Amino acid sequence: MNFSTKERNLLEDQKNHEQICIEKYSNYASMASDPQLKSLFEQNCQTEQEHYNTLDQLLKGQMPQMQQSSSQQSGSQQSGNMQMKSQQSQQGGSMQQMAQQSSFMPKGQSSNYNNCDKDLCTDMLMTEKYVSGTYDTSIFEFRDPQVRNILNHIQKEEQQHGESIFKYMENNGMYQVK
Ligand SMILES: [Fe+2]
Repeated sequence: MNFSTKERNLLEDQKNHEQICIEKYSNYASMASDPQLKSLFEQNCQTEQEHYNTLDQLLKGQMPQMQQSSSQQSGSQQSGNMQMKSQQSQQGGSMQQMAQQSSFMPKGQSSNYNNCDKDLCTDMLMTEKYVSGTYDTSIFEFRDPQVRNILNHIQKEEQQHGESIFKYMENNGMYQVK
């Protein structure tokens, strides 16, 4: 694979973004109070590590295997959906845990969540929005359609991360949808 200087620089930028996402998700998983949020951050962290590895492979001139056929693509999307389902099924248990944490709530707070957890979610959501946007901008600069597909696939997963955080916040009263 023969990348232009611009293409290479964009891949390096995205790789740095992925590195920061890995560090943030890893740190935030240890900081989160709710076990359900910990596991959500840990799962997203694993996907970010895959993104990092994919970009690293591209920069080393290798075409990542995950994008070789359309059937593999749909397979990975299915496993993504299954992850979402398993997250939802864990919610019943964690509601009890969150109720136990209610003593940590500031007085006058009506919703039953930890404020630090909310800040972690808000920051990760902001980060995912930014990274998704930079993938969108980068994609337009690439000549190879296969590389565009890979970046598009990664971008879609960033949006899924954003969705998982949004859903968590909405389900826990952190995100008021009016
Ligand atoms: Fe990522």
